[in-house]
Amino acid sequence: MYNEIDLDKIDINSEPPTEEPARQYYFMAKCRQIVKLESERLGRPLYACTQTFGCQMNARDSEKLAGILEQAGYKLTEDENADFVIYNTCTVRDNANQRVYGRLGFLNSMKKKNPQMKIALCGCMMQEESVIDKIRKSYRFVDLIFGTHNIFKFAELLCTMLESESMIIDIWKDTDQIVEDLPVERKYPFKSGINIMFGCNNFCSYCIVPYVRGRERSRNPKDILREIEALVADGVVEIMLLGQNVNSYGKNLEEPVSFAGLLREVEKIKGLERIRFMTSHPKDLSDELIQVMKESKKICRHLHLPLQSGSTRILQAMNRRYTREQYLELALKIRREIPDIAITTDIIVGFPGETPEDIEETIDMVKQVKYENAFTFIYSRRTGTPAAAMENRVPEETVKEGFDKLLKVVQDTARERVALLQGQVHTALVEEKNEQDTSLMTGRLSNNTIVHFPGDDSLIGKIVDVRLEECHGFYYVGEMV
Ligand code: SAH
Ligand code: SF4
Ligand code: F3S
Repeated sequence: MYNEIDLDKIDINSEPPTEEPARQYYFMAKCRQIVKLESERLGRPLYACTQTFGCQMNARDSEKLAGILEQAGYKLTEDENADFVIYNTCTVRDNANQRVYGRLGFLNSMKKKNPQMKIALCGCMMQEESVIDKIRKSYRFVDLIFGTHNIFKFAELLCTMLESESMIIDIWKDTDQIVEDLPVERKYPFKSGINIMFGCNNFCSYCIVPYVRGRERSRNPKDILREIEALVADGVVEIMLLGQNVNSYGKNLEEPVSFAGLLREVEKIKGLERIRFMTSHPKDLSDELIQVMKESKKICRHLHLPLQSGSTRILQAMNRRYTREQYLELALKIRREIPDIAITTDIIVGFPGETPEDIEETIDMVKQVKYENAFTFIYSRRTGTPAAAMENRVPEETVKEGFDKLLKVVQDTARERVALLQGQVHTALVEEKNEQDTSLMTGRLSNNTIVHFPGDDSLIGKIVDVRLEECHGFYYVGEMV
């Protein structure tokens, strides 16, 4: 494992190794030397800041970036007024891109005051040619750009950047490589995400993810289990298995394993208390998975099951490969088999050709499934996806009306579901101090509901029993028992 490698023993005057991850450790050692000299010259430590946009997979990638930066000798900070700033970007909807451009303007003003500052961009947005063109033209102050497929090469790219004055751009179109055992700096000591697969093969017609994350590749179960065991030995009690479609995990391995089969193995790891996963595509959710969840003592009572639309016609145009009836049957079966489970979802409003009648079907679905929470998104046209070429765009006014109407139903049904827990005692993993009221701690129930209750910092990372006293819509205020 990486923490057994002593960077100071690596000879950085020899040629870099060709195999991975040894090559990256060589470059970490080299960066460490450069950072050390610069820090001695300035008479202070060098600071690095990582900012994450997008999903849990990006958040996990950022922990890998932070791990490498720390090995290179940087002190990590949340303050963007740092010596090195890296944005790990998302491009799933246009507003994610706009946020990055806005923030880059702000970074530029900081760099003008501190010309030594280095700025890097990586992640999904960088896999788009039009983005690279725009940055080349209008954001000349950026020092390093790389994409999602070569993130494992970060140490090497960082080293090249530190030794160069010009903009470094390295984007790969795709990869089948999975590099294991690079350092990671976790945001939380007690919980962690774990990639079990990369990429996506589903090509939902609105979605850019398969284009920017490449083809589906599963990690070997042995590597996953070894990583979780090491995390548990390091104090982790809750893990989240990450993939764009975890239900198709293992299909492309030399020795195929099902996702349910992987979960059975993860369950056996001693000291691990809670298992979560994200995301499940409804078309691949097996009875075996429902059975494993039902029997498990560790798998959390929460399933995120993206609906996208309640209209079969729209689902077909979205290439989701299930009908309204199939989804409903599945959701109701899960509710029947695991009555204490919380089901959450994602819904898109305004997909090309969507009518007010389609929205009514989506609303009806929300009323029938009664989601504990639903993330509602306005459709965003992504260049290069099949839906971008569809002509029957929905007028903005119609989208807004449908969105507001849906949101109201989502909030009402969620409140109704979450209120059912009132007065019950549940176990909560204490995650942090409440930001608004520091006398309160914030914990997460197995079913993903948040609870705030009086307590102190010593509880962070512990699993405690809490009585749920006051329901405030999506969260509770409670008391430890
Ligand atoms: N792999 C996951 C979703 C990843 S993207 C899955 O299939 O469920 C997270 C969510 O963003 C999606 O569920 C979808 O609701 C939303 N989304 C994706 N592309 C979008 C687009 N072009 N416009 C609006 N929302 C989108
Ligand atoms: Fe996008 Fe569909 Fe893949 Fe999810 S399953 S990442 S929505 S293409
Ligand atoms: Fe965004 Fe990439 Fe995740 S596009 S949602 S960060 S996979």
